[in-house]
Amino acid sequence: PIEVKKICCIGAGYVGGPTCAVIPNIQVTIVDLNQARIDAWNSDELPIYEPGLDEVVKSARGKNLFFSTDVDKGIAEADLIFVSVNTPTKKSGVGAGFAADLKFLQLATRRIAEVATSSKIVVEKSTVPCRTAESMRTILEANSKPGCHFDILSNPEFLAEGTAIADLFAPDRVLIGSLQTEQGLDACRALSNVYANWVPRDRILTVGLWSSELSKLAANAMLAQRISSVNALSAICEATGANIDEVAFAVGKDTRMGSKFLKASVGFGGSCFQKDILNLVYLSESLHLPEVAKYWRAVVEMNEYQKSRFAEKVVDTLFNTITGKKIAILGWAFKKDTGDTRESPSISIANHFLSEKARVSIYDPQVTESQIWLDLTDYGDIPAEPIKPHITINKTVEEACKGAEAIVICTEWDEFKTLDWEKIYANCPRPAFVFDGRLIIDRKKLTDIGFKVVTIGSGDRV
Ligand code: NAD
Ligand code: UDX
Repeated sequence: PIEVKKICCIGAGYVGGPTCAVIPNIQVTIVDLNQARIDAWNSDELPIYEPGLDEVVKSARGKNLFFSTDVDKGIAEADLIFVSVNTPTKKSGVGAGFAADLKFLQLATRRIAEVATSSKIVVEKSTVPCRTAESMRTILEANSKPGCHFDILSNPEFLAEGTAIADLFAPDRVLIGSLQTEQGLDACRALSNVYANWVPRDRILTVGLWSSELSKLAANAMLAQRISSVNALSAICEATGANIDEVAFAVGKDTRMGSKFLKASVGFGGSCFQKDILNLVYLSESLHLPEVAKYWRAVVEMNEYQKSRFAEKVVDTLFNTITGKKIAILGWAFKKDTGDTRESPSISIANHFLSEKARVSIYDPQVTESQIWLDLTDYGDIPAEPIKPHITINKTVEEACKGAEAIVICTEWDEFKTLDWEKIYANCPRPAFVFDGRLIIDRKKLTDIGFKVVTIGSGDRV
């Protein structure tokens, strides 16, 4: 089989950076067009927060791990190239709001074809619609130099943010899809051998190209569907007096079901779930399968419902108006242990409160103030001036909660489990409300202090 001696990864983001940083023994160069991002990867302040990432990067950087903006050099030198660029939902044109925007992937593919002077294995690491490898092959073959041969593999990434390093060191599985030709299988063996440096062979699964591409969309859709299912049940719990944690525990004890990923919440966020389901919806529609499209679309609709239901519950509970009231939002990241805010439910919830003319104070231990402003202004699309007087971004929980009529927990940061609630209570007007959108607080303790506590999926009335 082909021996991989040098790897290039195009795209130094949440996936490219961590996935390549854990590869031992082989020289890896991660390239990106974004100079600021590359500079950050080469500095002491990495561009993303991920537990364990600093140690891994600092021990490999300059030895077998390099970060550069010289995309062409990276491509030219490598035998294997991971394409790990962003594939966001299209904002305009055909499929707007659903289809994946493949422009970054296609630009990177064209660059490979233009620059390569020797044969390469090109690995689709980005999440893409089923059969994207076929268009990549067409682009590569139409633009390649004589004597250059390209094998295309699909190798979707299953890491979750916040646990990326642990997930990458000990993955449940590594999935590699290839054409079932002699050359395709040979390329597949070459990539399997790279992973075999640290992943047990029985966890490296090899399948056909299209199954591999579809498996990634399927896995994310089914994970998100579990959350929408449990969130749908949380609404029934609130109306009946049942408790969603008890229901989820009872359901999860069934070994066919398993206990993970059954936590009711304010709704799922993150850059993947919504985007990948919408991608699947678009794919289903393009394949003339409207019933299938409708089925998956409901998972996203339920998530939108959960976010607005939670925000509306805050308004209802505060006697139907929050105009002029201070509301504290604890947590801006879409989950704990990340600074990533893409599709974070906190953004929708804050916007809901702003539309009700509340004064919103925000605290998050990892998200920067400038990022919160980018999120609130939709990256500059909404003017900041009109909302500025209604927003404060705080450096501590105490400051954010001081004088707040409601404290709304949106992210399950560990530090929110051990707050000094007595002190917080002393600085709140009465009645003081806590809304737990993550089921992390000790309800009895807070009620004993004097708070009125409202939790997702709990029938107890205030
Ligand atoms: P990201 O936006 O953090 O990073 C992508 C990087 O690619 C950016 O830094 C961008 O500058 C760079 N880039 C874009 N076009 C380029 C080009 N032509 N040449 C060089 N660099 C280019 O995105 P991400 O979160 O790392 O996601 C990447 C892919 O992985 C997406 O398809 C995503 O769906 C998938 N994925 C993400 C996660 C996750 O947890 N974030 C998990 C699994 C899969
Ligand atoms: C997800 C997939 O888990 C991962 O395999 C894929 O590679 C990328 O997309 P990520 O979005 O980083 O990973 O985090 P994940 O842990 O899946 O959480 C997604 C969202 O669902 C978060 O907002 C989280 O808070 C929420 N969630 C998760 C729940 O509301 N309840 C749960 O039980 C689990």
